[in-house]
Order: sequence, then structure tokens, then C-alpha cells
Amino acid sequence: MKAAYIAEPGPPENIVVGELPKPTPAKDQVLVKVAATAVNPIDTYIRSGTVAMPLPKPFIVGSDLAGVVEAVGPVSRDAERPRSGSRPRFRPGDRVWGSCQGILGRQGTFAEYAAVDEDFLYPVPDGVSDETAAACALVSLTAHLGLVRDAGLQAGDTLFVNGGTGGVGSMVVQMAKALGARVVTTAGSEKKVTACRDLGADIAINYKTDDVSAQVKEFAPKGINVWWETLREPDFDRTVSLLAPRGRMILMAGRDARPPFPVGPFYVKGCRLIGFAMFNATTQELRAAAEDVNRWLATGKLKARIDRVLPLAETATAHRLQEESTIGKSGALGGKIVVKP
Ligand SMILES: NC(=O)c1ccc[n+]([C@@H]2O[C@H](COP(=O)([O-])OP(=O)(O)OC[C@H]3O[C@@H](n4cnc5c(N)ncnc54)[C@H](OP(=O)(O)O)[C@@H]3O)[C@@H](O)[C@H]2O)c1
Repeated sequence: MKAAYIAEPGPPENIVVGELPKPTPAKDQVLVKVAATAVNPIDTYIRSGTVAMPLPKPFIVGSDLAGVVEAVGPVSRDAERPRSGSRPRFRPGDRVWGSCQGILGRQGTFAEYAAVDEDFLYPVPDGVSDETAAACALVSLTAHLGLVRDAGLQAGDTLFVNGGTGGVGSMVVQMAKALGARVVTTAGSEKKVTACRDLGADIAINYKTDDVSAQVKEFAPKGINVWWETLREPDFDRTVSLLAPRGRMILMAGRDARPPFPVGPFYVKGCRLIGFAMFNATTQELRAAAEDVNRWLATGKLKARIDRVLPLAETATAHRLQEESTIGKSGALGGKIVVKP
């Protein structure tokens, strides 16, 4: 099968698109004929080696996938996996999506076929395209875990998220609206500000030209209940001053950041700081999130923002673009890069 893989971590040019053996599904795995994948920043960190993880050799890049089940591997007896429900969950011909591959030693998805533990797969709702399912995979699960499991977002809460057209940001905006919150977000161009409003944000602020703090205060005079930080260098002084009493701040980016922290104002307000990495969620937590995601995808409350669709042969270009946009802050991307094998 065709696959995009690396022999060793390094720059995007290390990605080879060539032939590898078609995998065989192991116990409780299914073989997925991949129709679409999507690029996430973590794919580039793992490929470059800046985030060190155990890698199969050769390592196929990529975490997300959508496609069709081609074959089902041997099924463990229910007694061996009592909490997982009846098996197999999928049959040949079923459309599925999933994430958390290419991470923590698992093989990646940028290939014509992927053997995936069925616990990491969810059905694709009728009427939802493979491109949409792949583009929403990691980012929708991330947004749901942070909003529901961790921040306990309630209807009527005020929510702030940086970068409302970003991979995670666009999911946070739409899900927070679906959960009944009032949403303020930011973007780096007027075109993206308009796109944030189209996604349902109550207000969207151009962070390059406007006074974000002043507009957030005007929007939420009593403060922000949930502040979702997507930036890799959080400004705690600004955030804590804008949080409501008992406000929650989500941190999920910036491994090397060591910013100053206003201890007194933070604890006196009774705020909470919550960090998480989606790939550490249990398969039960991920599945609970995926069920809501599927319901919102099916009812049109959640839409993918796809910047472009590229062929597998252009995986290195896709990685370079994602790096320039997320780490280099070029703003070149206005949504996800979908890659089709
Ligand atoms: N912990 C986890 O589980 C987890 C999961 C997913 C992602 N992440 C991390 O979260 C980060 C974001 O991921 P992503 O996929 O959403 O990346 P992305 O699609 O590149 O989005 C980045 C966003 O940041 C915005 N931005 C850049 N500079 C800004 C500034 N100065 N002020 C306000 N907004 C600014 C961009 O807005 P413009 O385009 O409008 O400039 C863009 O919307 C990455 O570091 C990623 O590794 C962590």
C-alpha cells in the first residue's frame, strides 16, 4: 500500500511517500481503508522529534482518519475486556472515523490502509463526508474533553477562546454554542473575524488591530467563566484579570512556556487552572466525547473548517504549511489540511 512515513525524526523532507506492506488487523483491531486523514500540529512535533515518543519503524505519520472497515481482526472474549461492550463493534463496509493513532507508539494513518484498535473508532453519521469526519477528529475530541469533562461548561456561561478559526478554536466556538454558552473569540484578519461569526461566535475580535481586553470586558462585565487558551505563550496576568470569580482556564499548548503567574489574584478569585493532552484520555472518555460530536455533526451544529485538500504525495508540503501556520504564526491556514491517500 502507499504510505507517508519516516525512517527517523527530522524535517518535513524526511517524509517518504512509498510502498509499505498492507497491515493485518491484530486482536480487537479493524483494517480501515483510509479515505481521508487530517494534519494536526502534534503530527509535526512527533515527525520532527521535538516531542519524543516511541515510534514503530518505519513510522507512518498522522493521527486522524476516516474510511471504511475492510476486515475485522480476531475478537477477544468479552470476559477479557469486560467494560468494552460487545465485540466486534464494526463490520466490513461500516464507515468509521477516529484519532489518537501515530501517538504513544501506535502506527499512524497517512496510508491507504490502517489497522486500528476498534476502541479508537466511531461510526460516521449518514450524510457526513469522509473529509469532514477526518478534519474534525482530533480537534473535536480535544474541544469536547476540555469543555465538558474538564471545564464543566454550563449553558449561560461566558467562554473565551483564542483563534476561533483554528483547528481547536473552531471546534470550541461551535461546541460552546451548542452547549448554550455565550462565546467571544479572536482572529488575525477581518476575513477570519467574519468566519468566526459564521461559526456562531457572539463576538469576534481582530487581535492584530483591536483592544481584545477592552472588548472582552464589555462583552462579559462579570468576567469570563471559561477561558480556553490555544496560544503557546499564555498571558496569565491578562487572563486572570478577565476571569470571573471561580473561572476556569484551560491550558493545552506551549510545552516550553514558563510565563509569570499572578498567584494572589488567581486564588483570591477562586479560579482553577486545568491542563490536559487529549491523547491521554481513556478510550471510554473519548467515546463519550465522540457520541456528542456525532450528534452535532449529524444535526449540522458542528461543521469542519477545511482550508485545503491535498494528495498523500504532498504530505511533506502539508507538514511544512502546518508548522509555518501554527508555530511560525504565519496565519496561512484558515482551517484543517485534509490529506487523501
Ligand atoms: N493538549 C491537547 O490535547 C491539544 C490538542 C490539539 C492541539 N493542541 C495544541 O494547541 C495548539 C493549537 O492547535 P490548533 O490545531 O488549533 O492550531 P491552529 O489551527 O494552527 O490554530 C492556531 C490558532 O491560534 C491563533 N493565534 C495565533 N496567534 C495568535 C495571537 N497572538 N492571538 C490570538 N490568536 C492567535 C490563530 O489565529 P489566526 O489564524 O487568526 O492568526 C489560529 O486560529 C497547538 O499548539 C497544538 O499543538 C493541543
